[in-house]
Amino acid sequence: MAAPPETVNRAAELRDLIRYHDERYYGHDEPEIADAEYDDLLNELRTIEAEYSELVVDDSPTQRPGAAGIPTPFSEVRHLQPMLSLDNAFSRDDLVAWGERIGRLVTESVEFVGEPKLDGLAISLLYEGGRLVRGATRGNGETGEDVTANVLTINDLPKRLSGTRIPDTLEVRGEVFMPLASFEALNRRQAEAEGRLFANPRNAAAGALRQIDARVTASRNLSLYCYQPGVVAGGPKLTSHHQTLEWISELGLPVNPEIERLADLDAVFAFCQRMETNRHSLGYEIDGAVVKVDRLSQRAEMGQTSRAPRWAIAFKFPPEEKTTRLKNIMVSIGRTGRATPFAILEPVFVGGSTVQMATLHNPDEVARKDVRVGDIVIVRKAGDVIPEVAGPVLSQRKRGARKWKFPTTCPCELAQPLVQLEGEVDRRCVSADCPMQREQKIIYFASRGAMDIEGLGEERVRQLLNAGLAQDAGDVYAVTQEQLVALERTGEISARKLISAIEVSKSQPLIRVIVALGIRHAGPTAAAALNRAFPDLDAIMHATPEQLTAVDGVGPVIAQSLEAWFSVPTNQALIEKLRAAGVNFAAPVVDAPDVEQTLTGKTFVLTGGLEHFTREQAEAQITARGAKVTSSVSKKTSYVLVGENPGSKLGKAEQLGVTQLNEDAFQHLLEHGPEEPSEE
Ligand code: IVH
Repeated sequence: MAAPPETVNRAAELRDLIRYHDERYYGHDEPEIADAEYDDLLNELRTIEAEYSELVVDDSPTQRPGAAGIPTPFSEVRHLQPMLSLDNAFSRDDLVAWGERIGRLVTESVEFVGEPKLDGLAISLLYEGGRLVRGATRGNGETGEDVTANVLTINDLPKRLSGTRIPDTLEVRGEVFMPLASFEALNRRQAEAEGRLFANPRNAAAGALRQIDARVTASRNLSLYCYQPGVVAGGPKLTSHHQTLEWISELGLPVNPEIERLADLDAVFAFCQRMETNRHSLGYEIDGAVVKVDRLSQRAEMGQTSRAPRWAIAFKFPPEEKTTRLKNIMVSIGRTGRATPFAILEPVFVGGSTVQMATLHNPDEVARKDVRVGDIVIVRKAGDVIPEVAGPVLSQRKRGARKWKFPTTCPCELAQPLVQLEGEVDRRCVSADCPMQREQKIIYFASRGAMDIEGLGEERVRQLLNAGLAQDAGDVYAVTQEQLVALERTGEISARKLISAIEVSKSQPLIRVIVALGIRHAGPTAAAALNRAFPDLDAIMHATPEQLTAVDGVGPVIAQSLEAWFSVPTNQALIEKLRAAGVNFAAPVVDAPDVEQTLTGKTFVLTGGLEHFTREQAEAQITARGAKVTSSVSKKTSYVLVGENPGSKLGKAEQLGVTQLNEDAFQHLLEHGPEEPSEE
């Protein structure tokens, strides 16, 4: 089921909030919130993304390597030259305005190169002496993840460069993507194995590239096109981008054959339109066109901002729209009983996938759009991901088409009334016995952001309910391997795997257990607050409203919701089943810091590589002693730790007269703390 609009909005809000606090923390050295509060935001976003994979956008803070608290199995690498982003144009006017802006920065007329904007993942490849030595994801643009073992499995990618003009060093950027044929084959295999289906080729490519086991990457058939060099040493003298691409291609690197030289902005716009018309006959997904200034000397004059070069722009296609017949409008019931209307459509291929269902959000939306069963409707992918019905094509409405009425009863077999609670747009089924709610509750309990029980997805939960093996999440812990094997399409291995995943989930931390209960308003942020304030679940259960609201981060709405939830007998029964199964109810005991806080109040900036520490180890040593690590040097910086090949931060430190430490001095400081000024 597609994410409800408030969840879509909340996810966007969380992404913005996290980015804002990142900027305060890393960019300005002035965090406004505690680390734990930051982690709560990140966790809340992760929980939403676990439930609605379509909300996992590429630039989500959860997808960033090394984002606070996110362990990454790949080591961090620094790009020789930062990987910049691109500014966007959405119309011909935007393109013309860009053309005029850059035209003013140079004297001669500008020629362009047009390229398809591949919808995959940016990658940076490093060739030394003609051999591929490293492949890294874009990451935050400065540093990415080392995925060399995985990129080596990409067939199109040469391990050695060829031709007569091989450079000493070549850093080249490109896009890794999954061709549509590979994507469809992968999802077919996933469906057969009852695994999770990938929402689109980009997510599938991202997943494939970040596999721990490179053999899995190899089986996913990724492709690659290169489009831009970074640092080059010992290469030929080139004066234009098209020459550069020819050279890259001569080296054996794959270059997109759709790329064209374009004489002026009219040709540029015609190229963008051509790309849009042909986008579905390419065999891979594109979400726009990239337009680049051809002459390299002009690029140098135009320069770049901190984010993007001025000499290139991404022309983004508008969200795709198609028309199809609305076969029916139905209502789904969520875990809290909320009734969400959705459209059943004549299948239509839009935005790179076949759509048969689309959300209609809530009763007000259906009324506002006035879509009627039998109408020809316009379907589009909002943000090119979530299909939605934009509205009816009124000129094609059949006479006699009736206005749709929101059902008054729940679509489940109990058919209890749907009620509209005061102050809410939504209607809800408030029956505690509603099987549709039961199903959604168990799915949510097992989801990645909650108890994370792999293999207990929608299909499996439905099977357990239909077989009478589970009424609620507590029953899941009593299911046996034999019972699973007796179910349809279930082999020994998948049964054993599921039993073991269920077993493992018993020791999930309390915070996840609270989230998994699915109590309204008690999401990850509230769960984290409760986890900090109470020793165990029983203490939360028996807390008075006053004790609950006294917790920082728990307001009266959450307190009331908790109290109401714990007072329902079926919920109490669920808690007892979980307890009997041995699910962890205890909050973690916080260890007292055993490292002396010798560097409290100090601020460090790190530049260059160290011999005895990775960057993370150095940072951990610093923070363990009560100091902070920031990314930029300012007058407030106490020390700059200078390693091999330091960057521009060293110059800044010299300019501001900040104390510099080499690795020896750093180790001395860790062991002995700062020297006290001598009192003579
Ligand atoms: S050039 C400094 N060319 O679009 C120039 N990017 O929105 C950097 N992309 O991060 C990028 N196709 O992942 C360039 N032909 C193309 C591209 C392309 C796709 C992606 C790339 C970049 C993103 C920016």
